[in-house]
Amino acid sequence: MAQLHWNYEDLPWDRIDHGKVDHDLLPLIKAAALVEFNADDYTAYLCNVFHDDPEFQEVAREWAVEEVQHGRALGKWASLVDPEFDFDRAVARFRAGYRVPIDLNASVRGSRSGELIARCMVETGTSSYYAAIGDSTDEPVLKEICRQIAADELRHYKIFYIHAKRYLDKERLSKARRVWVALSRIGETEDDELAYAYYAANAPEDAPYERKAYSAAYMRRAYGCYRPKHLDRGIAMIFKACGLKPHTVTFNLATRAAWWYLENRSRRLARAGA
Ligand SMILES: [Fe+2]
Ligand SMILES: [Fe+2]
Repeated sequence: MAQLHWNYEDLPWDRIDHGKVDHDLLPLIKAAALVEFNADDYTAYLCNVFHDDPEFQEVAREWAVEEVQHGRALGKWASLVDPEFDFDRAVARFRAGYRVPIDLNASVRGSRSGELIARCMVETGTSSYYAAIGDSTDEPVLKEICRQIAADELRHYKIFYIHAKRYLDKERLSKARRVWVALSRIGETEDDELAYAYYAANAPEDAPYERKAYSAAYMRRAYGCYRPKHLDRGIAMIFKACGLKPHTVTFNLATRAAWWYLENRSRRLARAGA
């Protein structure tokens, strides 16, 4: 990925159809823009963890350029749809309150292959998320942004997977350990980062930050975009990263369990937010 596959400045910005903007999606897009734009912090962390692997460091740097562009594209769309949204101000607010732990020199996942499997989980999550948002909106420019971003995220998954395999050959992480790392990263989805981004992008400046409330506000809207096909594809990617075979009884059980969880969680979040 030496070059960007698309340039956000070339998107057909003058074709935004304001009548088709879903105002329930807008807060999600603002929050997602901040998280994407913050990818540089992860590069610093990844370059520390892979301090003697210049090949992977190069990959991490190029990856971040694409993620930052995702942030710019989403931020620009949100500012054009809602002129009161100040992207730079929101970025500053987010950065003032949320920091990625970049000064570590070993992976928080316990090994480099674990780190790369966790990265695969993040890319699985983002590629299915943008596919889900793209399918749930009729606004043509946001649809196009989501299509481009989802394709990038899928490429990122493939790149991290290639490097995960390289380290798995050396570190010999068991399948059980891979599943554990994958599940623990997925379990962090409702942690601080997205909740704080939602807060920084959407809440009034003087509002206090309440993680649970902002996480619920984000997740309630986000989960509502998913359809079974998005989950099925995501779970196939998770299975692959863990070294498990898709299209098996376990795979079918996992897709059904994931859909059940998502529906239940959205219902509970909707009730709590009502
Ligand atoms: Fe991204
Ligand atoms: Fe990505």
